[in-house]
Amino acid sequence: MHWQKRTKEEIKERVLQALDQNRNYDSDLILGIPGSYLDTAQFHRDASFLEDAPYLKTFINNPNHIGCHTLTGDEGEDLFRGTQRLEVELIRLVSEEIMHADEESIDGYVAPGGTEANIQALWIYRNYYKKQFRAKNHEIGVVFSTDSHYSFYKGANLLSIEPVPVDVGEETRAVEEETLRKALHHASIQGVKYFIVVANMSTTMFGSVDDTALYSRVFRSLDLPFKMHVDGAFGGFVYPFTNKNNALDFRNPDITSITLDAHKMLMAPYGTGMFLIRKGWMHYAATEEAQYVQGLDYTLCGSRNGAQAISIWMILQTHGPQGWQENIDGLMAETDRLCAALQEMKIPYFRNPRMNIISIKAGYISETLCRRYRLVSNDYTGSAKWWKVVVMQHTKGEVIDRFLEEVRAEQMELKGK
Ligand SMILES: Cc1ncc(COP(=O)(O)O)c(C=O)c1O
Repeated sequence: MHWQKRTKEEIKERVLQALDQNRNYDSDLILGIPGSYLDTAQFHRDASFLEDAPYLKTFINNPNHIGCHTLTGDEGEDLFRGTQRLEVELIRLVSEEIMHADEESIDGYVAPGGTEANIQALWIYRNYYKKQFRAKNHEIGVVFSTDSHYSFYKGANLLSIEPVPVDVGEETRAVEEETLRKALHHASIQGVKYFIVVANMSTTMFGSVDDTALYSRVFRSLDLPFKMHVDGAFGGFVYPFTNKNNALDFRNPDITSITLDAHKMLMAPYGTGMFLIRKGWMHYAATEEAQYVQGLDYTLCGSRNGAQAISIWMILQTHGPQGWQENIDGLMAETDRLCAALQEMKIPYFRNPRMNIISIKAGYISETLCRRYRLVSNDYTGSAKWWKVVVMQHTKGEVIDRFLEEVRAEQMELKGK
């Protein structure tokens, strides 16, 4: 069960074995399901290369992973049990080996992305407060730093609960205790009594990681009920490898759920978000009316392509823990190198030393250059204050070298004027 590096052959064998355990639309008697294999005029099922491409083969077989299989096990939808079991293995691998949960203590599923996983968390906690405390929607607040992803505004809007954004320090990008206390005081005056707290691992724009101990301490000191969710959509496959004492994993008893996105730093295809939550919570998102789905549905999205879970599983098995660690170490070294060059040129930036994001203060590099290298601005609607670089596999080496060369040339030109 332990995460280990596997050979291409071993991975292929395991996935093909899982597909064998699935029912097939072309060889089994399947009359009542509104699904089929992919259109044969477009997707050729007999192409010989598919035998060597387990992800594509799964994709073409089109297994539906609707539901939450860690929760329902073999009582869930049985047509695609083989690949669903691989998804369960994946949830265990990520929650236990990367996020340090106890054995089989976590439920979860592969979601379309970080947005859905974040909203799934808000949905579960909203329903919990409503069911257990008879809370009204407007009495439930989502507390998050203003550097958090906009999915929390989206989720609050959809669920009719109150967003409680908390400002961060301009230079530190961190929530300060006094600001948090003021925001909570203000929310309480507005009638918010029950809280969902978002801790970022890390933010999209800055790579900043929230201080969970600050949140826990302040909420306890004010005697306010809270449930904590970690948004690891960006840093979920990075930060646990750069901080062995990570306070944002399941070793922290205040954390109930975590979002990750394999389609960001893990380089999986889109549609590979992950939602992880301690056992005992998924049922707050059960839709009892989904009676025709074996094992009910506990997710926002409903039907989802089982190939996405397989792709994450395959990437993790290909690298193994050591290989992935080396990959992240490489990204960190390259980010350090870029930071050192910026420092040498006296260009100010923000960087969390444990993340691969650098946010460069606007005004030091021309906007034309920032745009040519597709740096991302914190604000495309007004005036940019920061331009962000994400160091990834495709930016290592040559792209960064060329960027630095052009920045240096620009600086020389400025000095010459
Ligand atoms: C921190 C964070 N959370 C959530 C999301 C949303 O992820 P997705 O686009 O996969 O829905 C993002 C995307 O950039 C993110 O950076």
